[in-house]
Amino acid sequence: MKNNFGIAIHGGAGTILRKNLTPKLEQQFRTALRLSIESGKSILENGGTSLDAVQAAVVVMEDSDQFNAGKGAVFTNDETNEMDSSIMCGKTLACGCGTLLRHIKNPIIFARTVMEKSEHVLLASDGAEQFAKLHDIEIVDAKYFHTKRRWFQLQVVKESDDNKAILDHDGDNSKHGTVGAVALDKDGNLAAATSSGGMTNKKYNRIGDTPMIGAGTYADNATCAVSTTGHGEYFMRLVTAKDICDMISYKQFSIDLATKEAIKKLTAIDGSGGVIAIDNNGNIAMPMNCAGMYRASFSADDKEPSVKIFVEE
Ligand code: GLY
Repeated sequence: MKNNFGIAIHGGAGTILRKNLTPKLEQQFRTALRLSIESGKSILENGGTSLDAVQAAVVVMEDSDQFNAGKGAVFTNDETNEMDSSIMCGKTLACGCGTLLRHIKNPIIFARTVMEKSEHVLLASDGAEQFAKLHDIEIVDAKYFHTKRRWFQLQVVKESDDNKAILDHDGDNSKHGTVGAVALDKDGNLAAATSSGGMTNKKYNRIGDTPMIGAGTYADNATCAVSTTGHGEYFMRLVTAKDICDMISYKQFSIDLATKEAIKKLTAIDGSGGVIAIDNNGNIAMPMNCAGMYRASFSADDKEPSVKIFVEE
């Protein structure tokens, strides 16, 4: 067992401007991010696995109504919630994903169960929920996901001129509230996890990058673990998470360079968002091409987790 470990989390990226965030709201986000990173950090410090750490960190954000995942998921045009999730183990390349989940309290626990208890990678919709019931995954009534803030956001978007699907919109803040975590444990194993409610007012069972292995999530002990947040269609076109791993593998890029290059590619096709990544030495990178990303990180050498929101922090 080595003593090197680390974890990074995100709670969404986008037009997050200081002028639009009241001190109270900013503090609430920082507290939620700290709770999330602490839950993963304590698992890693005690010799737990990176898979357990990323799952625990994501569950905290899914249980908070502040993020667009689990409890705080945004509404579809049909006034339902359809959630996506994925998790990947860097040691074995095993992974599990869920999409169109409507009643599963913690989509990331569902993804982990698909990975460990099924012969498949991705389960969807009603079949996914049948599988969840068989494996005693917590199912909740749809009203659990009915938050006033998200309901109001849907009404505002529906009343707008173009009635398009938009990213998580909160007054003057337009952000991509997907949550995710990446970690390296003391055994040298990497893991990545991502969970999202997708886009407000989405139609036709739109599915984003979150449950797509290689686009929103990837982990490989040979290189790094990645989770993305932003406009999913662009990460799907670029297969961003796997692309970052490949740049490290084929071009011997550092994690810093590979993630910056991925953001450049995103910008070049007018996509927006951010990524978090950790390599197999515990180096962490969290670049973005927007005004902010709710994020936090902790490495074995740090005294305290670092919690950040704005790009210039
Ligand atoms: N990145 C989350 C989504 O586009 O659904």
